[in-house]
Amino acid sequence: MDNKVLVVYYSLEGNTKLIAEAIAKESAAEILRLKPVKEIPSRGFFKYFIGGMKAMFKVKCALQSYAVDPSQYDTIFIGTPVWASRTVPALRTFLARHKLNGKKIAAFCTYMGNEGKSLKNILKLTQNSTHISKKGFKMLPDIKSQSIEHAVKWASSLKDEL
Ligand SMILES: Cc1cc2nc3c(=O)[nH]c(=O)nc-3n(C[C@H](O)[C@H](O)[C@H](O)COP(=O)(O)O)c2cc1C
Repeated sequence: MDNKVLVVYYSLEGNTKLIAEAIAKESAAEILRLKPVKEIPSRGFFKYFIGGMKAMFKVKCALQSYAVDPSQYDTIFIGTPVWASRTVPALRTFLARHKLNGKKIAAFCTYMGNEGKSLKNILKLTQNSTHISKKGFKMLPDIKSQSIEHAVKWASSLKDEL
């Protein structure tokens, strides 16, 4: 089988990175971390305020360049943190730039409270793709390692569909 799999994600604080790496390992996938040219503040009130506003207003952001060409992959896992119940600017930019028509998409998010509309946002931004699955992972400190195990199980359960 010659199915190429990519995991693309954005992570401000490392939670989505942990899940993305677990999925990539289980799926023998390549991985692409999206990095904005200018990151939001990493601490305090302004982090939530600025990040939340950007997510609410569906803002995009300039991304650092990357060498991966998504058109070369058959299946793409797309991972987002939840910001103000939504997906994040880096993924809005990526999904506006790359039309993933006809590709198989599995969407995942990480969150502290609930996944809100984040996965629905991703599905809407990839509406001409084939959606194979979607899953949210709660990343509260005491259940983080359990969530990583769930991510491995999820990726494993999708192997026949990739
Ligand atoms: C700007 C901002 C807004 C957030 N909004 C939400 C939210 O609406 N609901 C929620 O459950 N968690 C929210 N969180 C928590 C993150 O979704 C959660 O910590 C996530 O796992 C972070 O992923 P990361 O470590 O990969 O950046 C927010 C975090 C930030 C920084």
